[in-house]
Parts: sequence; structure tokens; C-alpha cells
Amino acid sequence: ARLVVLVSGGGSNLAALLDACADPGYGARVVAVGADRDAAAGLDRAAAAGVPTFVEKVADHPDRAAWDAALTARVRAHTPDLVISAGFLKLVGPDFLAAFGDRYVNTHNALLPAFPGIHGPRDALAYGVKVAGATLFFVDAGVDTGPIIAQVAVEVRDGDDEAALTERIKVAERAQLVEYVGRLVRGGWTIRDRKVTTP
Ligand code: GRF
Repeated sequence: ARLVVLVSGGGSNLAALLDACADPGYGARVVAVGADRDAAAGLDRAAAAGVPTFVEKVADHPDRAAWDAALTARVRAHTPDLVISAGFLKLVGPDFLAAFGDRYVNTHNALLPAFPGIHGPRDALAYGVKVAGATLFFVDAGVDTGPIIAQVAVEVRDGDDEAALTERIKVAERAQLVEYVGRLVRGGWTIRDRKVTTP
């Protein structure tokens, strides 16, 4: 199966996927990595692995819809079976969702529907929860609202600060991403009434 991965940052989730794809039995390979900014370190990881990269910046387009159309065309050119947002910090628009809405997954560092948005671990700590975690889901038009594929729980420990909790979540999040992307590409999936079934 062909994976296109979108990143905005460090790309540790991307790195975990690249490692997993090195095993032919995993059933997938990363055919391209895209970013919305030049500085995304994930692009360097991709280049080091010999994977083609592209950058599509909102600022290079007259408006958000034009950016969305350009991003959609870029991704489509690589004919992905699954598109993965791995720390991609832009919300895609209608063109992208029309093209990939049934096969665009995102990983979020909180247990949705709690703590959507870009500060999941910080918000969870501020609320005082005892269990945090990560959610893998299919992206829809909302912010972190799509059908859930998998969730993993992580304990919150006394004395945790944002950095410590964020890192503990990321370890579990990476493992979950690798496991479930593998299940999706090897076995397929169905989505009915928001319920995602993976073999
Ligand atoms: C992940 O924890 C994701 O949930 C959040 O940003 C992080 C991306 O990390 N939105 P990386 O770029 O894969 O290292």
C-alpha cells in the first residue's frame, strides 16, 4: 500500500512509520512526505530515507481554497491508499476531504473527544485528568471530530509537567500509529455510523 505522510514538525511519528515500512511484511511504504512549511524536520527525515518530499505553503496561494486545491493535487499525484497526518498542523479543506476523506487519518495527543486542538497534553494537565492518551481517527470537516480508529491510554503521574506528559504520550502514540496503519493497509476498514472496524 502507498502512504503519503503530511508533517509540520519533528516527524517522530513519520520516523516510526518509515522504520515499520522497512519490513516488507508491514505491507506499506511511504511514497511521499509533504509539509506546509520549509522548516519541518520531518522533511529531512524523509529525504534521508530517500522518500520524495514536497512543500505547499498557505502563504504561496491567494487564499485557503487555492492552497487546499494545490495540496490535494500534490497528494493525488502520488496515488496514495492512505494519507496520514503526523503532526500536520493545518486543517485541510473541502477539495482535500472530497479526494481523501475516507482515507485520511490523523493522530492526536489526547483521548478525544476530550482536549481537541493543538495543546492536548497541556489542556489535559490543566484539567487534572489522571489518564491521558492518544487517538487515531479519520479526519472529517471538524477539528479532531472524525470517526475513531483506536485509542491508547497513558497514566498521568504526580509531578508531570507538559513536556513529561507529552513525551510519554508520544511513545504510546507512535506505537499505536504503526500498529493501526498496518492493520488498515493489510486488512482494509469499514466506517458505518461513525464506527470504524479494522480486522
Ligand atoms: C503528535 O504528538 C501529534 O499528536 C501532535 O503533534 C505531535 C507530532 O509529533 N499533533 P511528530 O512531529 O510526529 O514528532
